[in-house]
Amino acid sequence: MPSQRLLDPLFVATEASAFTERHLADLVAGTTAAVRVPGFLAGATRRAIRQALTRLPIAAYDPARVADPIIRFGPALNDYRTLDGGLDHERYWPAADAARAAWSRAGLRPDPVAAALKLLGCAWGEAVQPATVNGRPLFGGTVREINSGALIHYDEAVREVPGLFDQPLVAQLAFNTWVLAPEAGGETKLWRRRWQPEDEQHRHSYGYQSPVTDGAQLLELTPAAGEGLLFAPANYHAIAPAVGRRVALAFFLGLTTRGNLIAWS
Ligand SMILES: [Fe+2]
Repeated sequence: MPSQRLLDPLFVATEASAFTERHLADLVAGTTAAVRVPGFLAGATRRAIRQALTRLPIAAYDPARVADPIIRFGPALNDYRTLDGGLDHERYWPAADAARAAWSRAGLRPDPVAAALKLLGCAWGEAVQPATVNGRPLFGGTVREINSGALIHYDEAVREVPGLFDQPLVAQLAFNTWVLAPEAGGETKLWRRRWQPEDEQHRHSYGYQSPVTDGAQLLELTPAAGEGLLFAPANYHAIAPAVGRRVALAFFLGLTTRGNLIAWS
């Protein structure tokens, strides 16, 4: 007789009408897997972002996948890492400045990134500040269209760019809100599994192959237009291929040693 699979009863998605301090604490502590807030982005805001997308410079994320691209607006720190875990300052800062200028020119009122940060800051009880490097604020608020899926990976700035931020971090959360949700598929797959040194043998392109998550508890989160989602991205996650367009506004939140929240992309 097969043994019954033991599951962590806390590794579930919490649905709420707004993000709260308790949600953020639970995500950091690992006592909830994800928090989703339906209707986080109003319909009018989503339409405004969709219209702005036609005015924003959209860069292909992975030139090797031109037939099936992941496109994004705004620089993500991960794409500007040096081999030794530093920041390619020469490439990053001009891209960050250009993205800020383009975002500002797109003239979104209210600015949905600022609005999202404000709500999260209200939940925490203190305004979210940008992550900084040598006092200079990093860009926060990418818009990404991921229709063909994304490989299993984790995001953990303290490993990827150790010591880069001025603010030391004790935890990292990922925020996403969907401007467009696909007709089907496009689920965020989140495993109750963090990186282990032996996973390096399963590296593949920018991510990892499935043995790293085999047997781990899995949560599948179906994207819904306007929904806000927070999860701890040190857990392995991936995106399933979508039927239709899957466009998300995304940034990371970091909890500092001083109890402040900081944001970057
Ligand atoms: Fe990620």
